[in-house]
Amino acid sequence: MDIQGTTAIVTGAASGLGQATAAMLTDAGAKVAALDIAFSDAEITADVLKHPCDVTSEASVEAALAAAQSAFGSARILVNCAGILESRRVLGREGVMPLDHFRHLIDVHLIGTFNVARLFADSARQLEPLSEDGHRGVIVNTSSVAGLEGQIGAVSYSTAKAGIAGMTLPLAREFAREGIRVVAIAPGLFETPMAAGLRDTAQEQIMSAVPFPKRLGQPREYAALVRHICENDMLNGEVIRLDAAIRMP
Ligand SMILES: NC(=O)c1ccc[n+]([C@@H]2O[C@H](COP(=O)([O-])OP(=O)(O)OC[C@H]3O[C@@H](n4cnc5c(N)ncnc54)[C@H](O)[C@@H]3O)[C@@H](O)[C@H]2O)c1
Repeated sequence: MDIQGTTAIVTGAASGLGQATAAMLTDAGAKVAALDIAFSDAEITADVLKHPCDVTSEASVEAALAAAQSAFGSARILVNCAGILESRRVLGREGVMPLDHFRHLIDVHLIGTFNVARLFADSARQLEPLSEDGHRGVIVNTSSVAGLEGQIGAVSYSTAKAGIAGMTLPLAREFAREGIRVVAIAPGLFETPMAAGLRDTAQEQIMSAVPFPKRLGQPREYAALVRHICENDMLNGEVIRLDAAIRMP
C-alpha cells in the first residue's frame, strides 16, 4: 500500500515507538491521527491530529476515530503502540498479586489493541479497495519478545503480549475478505521512556542476552519496519521479531 495520501491512526503516539511511527508516516505523506491518553486536548495541524484517547474505552476510541475521520477521512493504516509496563511477581514480598494488577495490564494491552482494531476494521471495510487484490487497509499491532519468552515478574505483561501475538492470525484470516492485513511486531528492548523505566539491573540483564547489534533498538528502526509492512502487501498474519536475535533468559 502506498502511504502517500492515506490517513493513519497511531495509538500511544505521544511517546516512544508510537511517536516515531507517527513522524515516519507524516514524512511518508500520510495524514496522521495521533491518539494517546497523555494528550489532554485535541490539536490539529495540516497533517497531524493529536487527540486524547484511552484505548481501553469503547466511547473514547469511537470519539477519537470519528474526529480522525472528520479531519482527514477514513483511515487505511492502524498502528497500535499504546502500552504500559509494570512488573510484579504473583507471589511477591508484598503478598499475592492483586487481581487488578493482572486485569489492568490485560485491559490496556490486549483489550485496548483489540478495541481499536475492531473499530478501525469496521470503518476500513467500507472503503473502496485500492488494488485489484481488493486491498483496503493494514493493522500493525505491537507484541513483545516478552510475550514469547516471558520472565519472572512479567506474567501480566507477557500474557497480554502473547495475546496480541495470538490474535494476529485469526484476525488476518477473518479480515482477508475485507482486504485488511494484520501483522504484529515483537520488539526486543528499544530506547524509549518505557525502557528507561526498567531498573538498571533488569536492563543490563536483558542487554547481556542480545547477540548483535548489542544495543537498544531505536524507535526509528521500529518505524522503518512499520513502513515496510504498510508497503509490502504480501506481509500478513505474521508476528515479526525485531530484536537483534535476543532470546530472553
Ligand atoms: N520500548 C521497548 O523496549 C518495548 C519492547 C517491546 C514492546 N514494547 C511495546 O511497544 C509499545 C510502545 O512502547 P514504548 O516503549 O514506546 O512506550 P512509551 O511509554 O514510550 O509509550 C507508550 C504510550 O502509550 C500511552 N498509553 C498508555 N496507556 C494508554 C491508554 N490506555 N490509551 C492510550 N494510550 C495509552 C502512553 O501515554 C505513552 O505515550 C507498548 O505496547 C510496549 O509494550 C516496547
